[in-house]
Amino acid sequence: MNRDQLFAANRNWWDERGPLHATSPFYGIDRLIAGATSLDDFELAEFDIGSARSFVHLQCHIGTDTISWARRGLEATGLDFSVASLEQAKNIGNRCGIEIRWVASDLYEAPETLAKTYDIVYTGKGALNWLDDIERWAWVVAKLLNSGGRLYLVEFHPISWILGDEEWAIKNDYFTTGDPYIEHDPEGSYAVPEATTSANTTAEWQHTLADIVSAIAGAGLTIRWLHEFPFTEFQQSPVLRKSADGRVYELPPEMPRLPLMFSLCATKP
Ligand SMILES: C[S@@+](CC[C@H](N)C(=O)[O-])C[C@H]1O[C@@H](n2cnc3c(N)ncnc32)[C@H](O)[C@@H]1O
Repeated sequence: MNRDQLFAANRNWWDERGPLHATSPFYGIDRLIAGATSLDDFELAEFDIGSARSFVHLQCHIGTDTISWARRGLEATGLDFSVASLEQAKNIGNRCGIEIRWVASDLYEAPETLAKTYDIVYTGKGALNWLDDIERWAWVVAKLLNSGGRLYLVEFHPISWILGDEEWAIKNDYFTTGDPYIEHDPEGSYAVPEATTSANTTAEWQHTLADIVSAIAGAGLTIRWLHEFPFTEFQQSPVLRKSADGRVYELPPEMPRLPLMFSLCATKP
């Protein structure tokens, strides 16, 4: 498959999952409508929106995090290439009574499609692995930011992608080859493993922490901080256990700890 075919396969995968995810317990839409946030505790603790007004969420999927940030007083835009996911996002946003601009676009075309710059660019939680060119991604982010604006990136740690799903033994290279991992996945998804689906091929790319940080710096942004966390949002492997407070997943006490998520803040001079 060439690059266009790989991206089309990914879009088909997400178009089929968007409506399924919107009714899944995993995404907790009823809780969101009732006023709960979908953001992680650490996000709320470490990222202060300050005097920022405008906000864009890249690869927003069905918009749960976009809505959660918008509720904190930001004028929000959500961008994704999956029109079926954005239809769900729009519907959920309306049910939450919040106004958000939803824009269908490939990530790499975002500056031209949005034709606007922002105080905050937010992205992650399973976003970067769908992109083949991390340096081009960083330039997109830089173009979307106002001077003094901030990138807030929250991602699953690249270490966690190298571990096989079941035992979490090392399965894939940590270092980037440039080639995609083309998976012929089982039906369903992380949120709806039991669902029947027909688009089951995906292409994903590994980007090391060094690649990501260097791409951001290379696009002219100043890195303010980089945090690593020994927990993750969902059960990426059966090896992981719910934390004592039930809010995140961790490795069991008998296993050495690894970074499972990271977050980064960078500013545009
Ligand atoms: C796991 S979701 C993003 C995480 C989000 N926090 C969530 O789970 O709701 C990944 C999103 O990236 C989008 N995506 C993948 N490749 C893209 C591309 N090239 N351009 C724009 N969106 C893309 C998919 O449509 C999907 O909605």
